[in-house]
Amino acid sequence: MQDRHAHWEERWRRVSGGAVPDPARVLAENLHLLPARGRALDLACGLAGNAFALAAHGLETHAWDWSEAAIARVRGAVQGGAPAVRAAVRDVVAQPPEPDAFDVIVVAHFLDRTLMPRLEAALRPGGLLFYQTFVREAVGERGPSRPEYRLGPNELLALLPALRLVVYREEGRIGDLSRGFRDEVLYVGRRPD
Ligand SMILES: C[S@@+](CC[C@H](N)C(=O)[O-])C[C@H]1O[C@@H](n2cnc3c(N)ncnc32)[C@H](O)[C@@H]1O
Repeated sequence: MQDRHAHWEERWRRVSGGAVPDPARVLAENLHLLPARGRALDLACGLAGNAFALAAHGLETHAWDWSEAAIARVRGAVQGGAPAVRAAVRDVVAQPPEPDAFDVIVVAHFLDRTLMPRLEAALRPGGLLFYQTFVREAVGERGPSRPEYRLGPNELLALLPALRLVVYREEGRIGDLSRGFRDEVLYVGRRPD
């Protein structure tokens, strides 16, 4: 655990440049699903590309990551004129979001299976979970090398039984491998009203 934290601290400390990253594809392609108002969370946000897209949409946006270096960068971007994001240093496994707290949660390139019931519960009725992360049935080399940090086939669906499926894309190694959306799963689910 400490090693992983140190790894990310070091990684974010080494990043140079102040550009705000693009949001993950799961959010960029589905911005039309967002509510006009509400409270949103970018969980394990890194440099918070998703949070900035949520804030630009008009949502009250929170961004949590356990890396002080990443959160300092996010705060610096806000001070430099990026959309208002409330960034906090927070271990999201030790301190998951409270129940009924958010209308939108985005998780990109982070996986902790024990957190899934907490994510379902943290959504308000009608709330949306946007999720994108790496799968084991990959084509390329991107993403974590340890298989436990990758999702198995359709695993995310089984991990989120309380949510209604809205969008799902997982292409595995089917068909023309030079095309399509590969190496990752893309998911949007909704907590029933
Ligand atoms: C691969 S990065 C993804 C960052 C961002 N979501 C993105 O897609 O660009 C994984 C992030 O998870 C954060 N992280 C890992 N474990 C965490 C934990 N227990 N609590 C909070 N953040 C964590 C790391 O600091 C890192 O910023």
